[in-house]
Amino acid sequence: MESLLIKGGVPLCGDVTISGAKNAVLPIMAAALLTREPCVIRRVPALSDVKFMGEILTWLGAQVRFEGDSVCIRANKIKGTGDYDLIRKMRGSICIMGPMLGRLKKAAVSLPGGCVIGARPINLHLKGFEALGARVTIANGYARASAKRLIGAEIFLGGRAGSTVLGTANVMMAATLAEGVTVIDSAACEPEVVDLANFLNAMGAKITGAGSPTLTITGVKQLHGTEYEVIPDRIEAATYAIAAAATHGEVTLRGARYDHLHAVFDKLNGAGVRIDRKGSAITVRRNGRLKPVDITTLPYAGFPTDIQAQMMALMTLTPGISIITERIFESRFMHVSELARLGADIEIEGPSAIVKGGKPLSGAPVMASDLRASAALVIAGLAARGTTQVNRVYHLDRGYEQMDAKLRKLGARIQRIEEQ
Ligand code: EPZ
Repeated sequence: MESLLIKGGVPLCGDVTISGAKNAVLPIMAAALLTREPCVIRRVPALSDVKFMGEILTWLGAQVRFEGDSVCIRANKIKGTGDYDLIRKMRGSICIMGPMLGRLKKAAVSLPGGCVIGARPINLHLKGFEALGARVTIANGYARASAKRLIGAEIFLGGRAGSTVLGTANVMMAATLAEGVTVIDSAACEPEVVDLANFLNAMGAKITGAGSPTLTITGVKQLHGTEYEVIPDRIEAATYAIAAAATHGEVTLRGARYDHLHAVFDKLNGAGVRIDRKGSAITVRRNGRLKPVDITTLPYAGFPTDIQAQMMALMTLTPGISIITERIFESRFMHVSELARLGADIEIEGPSAIVKGGKPLSGAPVMASDLRASAALVIAGLAARGTTQVNRVYHLDRGYEQMDAKLRKLGARIQRIEEQ
C-alpha cells in the first residue's frame, strides 16, 4: 500500500486546476444506461471511483472507453443485476439502480452497506421506486425492484438528515422513462444533482426544478445519446482553498465555480481568509491571524459535510475554540483521533467536535480512513512542523486527481512512497 510523506511548513503558492466533479460524473456515467445510443462525457477526473464505475458498467454489458479526460459509454444491451462484490466496494454505484429500473423495468443490486462515516441506508431510494409502481424486495443481500410499468407519482424524499443526493438522482433517472409526471418533494439541491438533470435533459428528458427542493420529471418514451461536460469539483476546490489558508500561502483556483462555494467561502472569510475573484480565477490567501468559526454541516446550499474534516484541520491551527457539528452522517469524525496524533486538541460531544486550536502541530504517522478525512490529514501535515506520513492513501485516490502532483506544483514537499 502507498503512503504520502509530507515535510510540512511550506506555504502553498501558485495555480491549481480543478478537475471534474467525482460526485457529478458517477451518476452521469450511470445515466448513460438509460439509452442504447453512445454518450460522451467530458472533464472526467482520473479517479479510482470513476474507473470502478466504468468496470461496473462494463460488467453490466455496456461498452466503456476512456480517452484522456473523456469517456464514451454505449449501453446497447445491459443485464439487470449488479454484481454483489462490485457494488459493495463503492457506495456511489447504487446509482445504477434507477437507470436499470427505468430502462429494463427491473433492477437488482447488492446492498451497498455502510462505511466508516455511517450506515448509509437506501430506504429512500427504494421508497421512490415503490412510489413509481415498482415492487421492491430485499433478500440475500440484494435490493430488487421490478415493475410492469413505471407510473409518474408525487414522492416525498426527505429523510433523517433532510434530502438524499443519490436517492434524488436514482428516482429522477427512473422517472425519466415513467409514464406521466413525477414530482419529487424535498429533492436534493446539490450542484451535482443539477448537473445530472442537465445531462438527462440533453438526452431528451423533461426535467424542471433542478436545484430546488421540488423536481418535476415528465416521462418520455426513450432517451438518446449526447455529449456533455461535467461541472468542476467544488469539494476539490474547497480542499485546496483550505490548504492554502492552512499553510499561509496564496493559491489561485482555476476552473472552479464560485457560485458552488458560497457556504465554504463565507466560513473561510469569517476565519480571516481572503478570497478574491478575477474573472473565473479565485485566489485564496490568509489575511493575518486565523479566527475560530463554528460550522454545522447541512444539505446544499448549507455547509457541505464533505468539507467538514478539512475545515476541522484548519481550525486546529486557529487560536481559540471552534465547534464543528456534523448533521448529515452519524459518524464522520474518524479524522479526530488521527489529527490528535499531530497534536490537535479536539473533544467530541455527541454530533459536535470542540476544537481548541492554536497549538502548532507536529508531524507523525497517521492513517487515512475515508476520502475526506484523508484530505484533512494531508492539510494538517502540510501545516505541521516536521514530517507526516499519511498511510492508506488509496482513500485519497478515490476522490482527488493526482493530489500529490498538484500539491508539489504548489511548492509542497510531498512524495508518494510504498508503505513501510
Ligand atoms: C452523496 O452521498 C455523496 N456521494 C457524498 O460524498 C456526500 O457526503 C453525500 O451525498 C451528502 O452530500 C456521492 O455523490 C457519490 P445522501 P449519498 O443520500 O447520496 C441518509 C464523498 O466524500 N439517507 O445524501 O449516499 C444518509 O444516511 C462522499 O465524496 C437515508 O437515511 O448521501 C445520510 O445521513 C461521501 N436514507 C443522509 O441521508 C437513504 O435512502 C445524506 O445521505 C439515503 C440517505
